[in-house]
Amino acid sequence: GRPRDLAGRKVVVSAGGTREAIDPVRYIGNRSSGLQGYALARTAVARGAEVTVVAANISLADPAGAKVVRVESTAELREAVLAASGDADVVVMAAAVADFRPATRHDEKIKKTDGEPAPIHLTKNPDILAELGERRRQARATAPDAGVPSGAGVPTGAEGAYPKVIVGFAAETHDVLANGQAKLARKGCDLLVVNQVGEGLAFGTPDNAATVLVAGGDPVEVPFGPKDDVADAVWDLVAARLS
Ligand code: C5P
Repeated sequence: GRPRDLAGRKVVVSAGGTREAIDPVRYIGNRSSGLQGYALARTAVARGAEVTVVAANISLADPAGAKVVRVESTAELREAVLAASGDADVVVMAAAVADFRPATRHDEKIKKTDGEPAPIHLTKNPDILAELGERRRQARATAPDAGVPSGAGVPTGAEGAYPKVIVGFAAETHDVLANGQAKLARKGCDLLVVNQVGEGLAFGTPDNAATVLVAGGDPVEVPFGPKDDVADAVWDLVAARLS
């Protein structure tokens, strides 16, 4: 059995991949299945956490015991994650978030014309993970004592309440440690789960392998195996930082 080391903890997990509308029928999206995010949600429930999953475009059965908030775009995912994070102990950003979105969403379906295809102009999306890290950094700077997790008595939505542990995900193909450490610092998160992108590690597969980078600590290698095992390895590190 699993330890109940997340009992009484509020956990937010974003999962899946965002879609950015081009017109009423088309979007820019990615191949994230939501399998790793749902594995995180399921295992957190099993370890006693109260789990909210912000699910972006996932066609899997809901993870039992978790509250599921469905979103489509990055803007919706951001709203849902920030709303759920107010009194959360832990936020895990496992979702694949679109870096860019079409600058304008056409109200009518773009028609095929005889001429050149119309260009799609892109604009930058907000970086939700970096925003969470920055909000926490600012809150700590102004109220250094406020950073206790909600489970330890900060009222819901309290000024200065913020997640005690913030976890990001990243896919890196080269210089995993150097690129990952830079990203960990840039985003202000505590743990960064770096997926080794390569053969047999495609989106939608049941297995995964990862290196978890730890702020102020040594990296932890998680061997190739079921996504539940990768999730449990993440929760082991989260639980250690909460206690
Ligand atoms: O910078 P990169 O996309 O590699 O970072 C990945 C991590 O940042 C993931 O945890 C992802 O959920 C999060 N992210 C985000 N907002 C974005 C882009 C990525 O929260 N706009």
